[in-house]
Amino acid sequence: MEEKRFYITTPIYYPSDKLHIGHTYCTVATDTIARYKRLCGYDVMFLTGTDEHGQKIEEKAKEAGVSPQEFVDKIVTGKGGILDLWKLMNISNDRFIRTTDDYHVVAIQRIFKKMYENGDIYKGAYKGMYCTPCESFWTESQLVNGCCPDCGRPVKYAEEEAYFFRLSKYAKPVQELLETGTFLQPASRVNEMINNFIKPGLEDLCVSRTSFSWGIPVDFDPGHVVYVWVDALFNYATALGFLNDRYDDFDKYWPYVHHIVGKEIVRFHSIIWPAMLMSMGMKLPNKVYGHGWLIIDGGKMSKSKGNVVDPYVLAEKFGVDALRFFLMRTFPFGSDGNFTNELLISTINTDLANDLGNLVSRTTAMVEKYFGGTLPAERETDALDEDLLGMIKSTRDKYEEQMEAFQLHVALEEVFKLIQRANKYIDETAPWILAKDESRKARLATVMYNLLEALRVALVLLTPFIPESCEKAFAQIGAQGEAVTWDKANVYGVLPATVTVHKGETLFPRIDMAKMLQELEKHDKPAAPAVKPVLPDVSIDDFYKNDMRVCKILSCEAVKKSEKLLKFTLDDGSGTPRQILSGIHKFYEPEDLVGKTVVAILNLPTRKMMGQDSNGMLLSAVREVDGKEELHLLILDDSVPAGAQLC
Ligand code: MSP
Repeated sequence: MEEKRFYITTPIYYPSDKLHIGHTYCTVATDTIARYKRLCGYDVMFLTGTDEHGQKIEEKAKEAGVSPQEFVDKIVTGKGGILDLWKLMNISNDRFIRTTDDYHVVAIQRIFKKMYENGDIYKGAYKGMYCTPCESFWTESQLVNGCCPDCGRPVKYAEEEAYFFRLSKYAKPVQELLETGTFLQPASRVNEMINNFIKPGLEDLCVSRTSFSWGIPVDFDPGHVVYVWVDALFNYATALGFLNDRYDDFDKYWPYVHHIVGKEIVRFHSIIWPAMLMSMGMKLPNKVYGHGWLIIDGGKMSKSKGNVVDPYVLAEKFGVDALRFFLMRTFPFGSDGNFTNELLISTINTDLANDLGNLVSRTTAMVEKYFGGTLPAERETDALDEDLLGMIKSTRDKYEEQMEAFQLHVALEEVFKLIQRANKYIDETAPWILAKDESRKARLATVMYNLLEALRVALVLLTPFIPESCEKAFAQIGAQGEAVTWDKANVYGVLPATVTVHKGETLFPRIDMAKMLQELEKHDKPAAPAVKPVLPDVSIDDFYKNDMRVCKILSCEAVKKSEKLLKFTLDDGSGTPRQILSGIHKFYEPEDLVGKTVVAILNLPTRKMMGQDSNGMLLSAVREVDGKEELHLLILDDSVPAGAQLC
């Protein structure tokens, strides 16, 4: 007999920046599924964590002037960091792994060695294109317009001695696995993987690097660090104690693995991951589910685009449950969804404030008003009740079918059909008219009881989505113990006949759309750059003493032994090349500037810099954003001739 066990994971997050609402979406979805399975009586292991190695982190730490470990510690465990965010969002993970944890490091070294010893990892030389932000190697044929097919950013040529994993050897079994149709879902992702990656030919995968050091060292070959994706993927096994002594529930949960991942990392989870597991002789995951992205204005959220939405701000304004609900209710899990503040507010107002919140407050208010809070035991049924009672008994099955397929938004639709039916039942039965007639007390009590039963069932099914609100609502409708269990969510007549309600606070207050949009706008605007005050006046005659002219950059090179300086040879229109040195190497590469039309001030005294003459200064626009200096060289249209004077 199959054990009722369930192991579910989120991707482990890169602590390279603060997390945004897109990351929160994935974790809330996984949390909802984990809570659902617990509700159904499963022994659940829910894992999340952080993926802390790699070149990107090393570079970011260097920029910030701290060690990589200090850098990730701040983002993971610091105030307002990843752990705080999951606590705020009421994420019920059972375990949290950091890939810098000692037990994981040791286990990865053992795993790497095992694949080396079984001949699936071999030493070679890597020559190819590498995307630093994605930590991914790509073949020429995989590039899109010469850029990374995942993020669209430029890739760099990289060549180094490296270890390779024999991914090509596993092309056939991986394709067969994908073709089963159950391993990878939704189904559309299967064709994408087979057509885009397997059919063009799977090449062996470079699995070690020597050009940076922030990674897990290959213990039998110093200088090599394990490719970050090998390190990251095996977290799912090491967090259960695979090849380490920290935990010992690998055998217990491994046969029940389910991975929830974003669509851009499906390739790693459905091709590379099973191939490595096959190489290790390990059982394969039951399911990889690739969800879509939350997008804004049709594009991916990213810090560089300035369109990331802060979950802390949204949770503070709307409440954690309202935010969780919105994410799961609005966007079909599996497809992309366009995030807008308007949609967020209207979803909360319609579903939570109007439909659910109203049903709870109207029902409890009526029981208090008509019966002083406790229903009498007498009943009088009516044919009008049949439809609602039928839905009380049948909604759980429909919901279960959708939840099992991770169609979370459709499962919610089923619950809301019940809630809407109950609201309609109030209009049909008109309790305020029954209340006027003393002889209809039993009928009125029956109507109230049916409403409370409909609410009880709806709330049990909503618990995985909005756990805190359901707990409050259960207290209001007088439901507790067995009445709030999965087993009783398809049964009518569970609340005691003489149930007592306690009208409480409004669960989901209605939001004033216009006012809230205005408030949110303040947060959505990027921080205004610090603008320096205007300097005291100078006379126009003094201004004209500055000889500023258009110049063409004839050549540009980095000054040896200087990190900052670039040496320019300029055509200033005089016929004699002019040399200027400028400290802008941090912002520009020399080869990108040759041929550009720029502006220089020429009548400054000659300055010696690193032993070389500089005859003037190039003009740039500078400003400070978030404490960081930004510089833009003034670059003009090429039609402006050299020597033209600025006035
Ligand atoms: N570190 C890897 C995962 C390794 S798993 C062995 C990684 N980390 S990530 O922080 O970049 O992304 C974590 C997850 O967040 C991914 O599943 C990604 O798809 C998801 N999301 C990031 N932005 C998102 C949206 N805008 N919308 C939905 N999900 C998003 O990838």
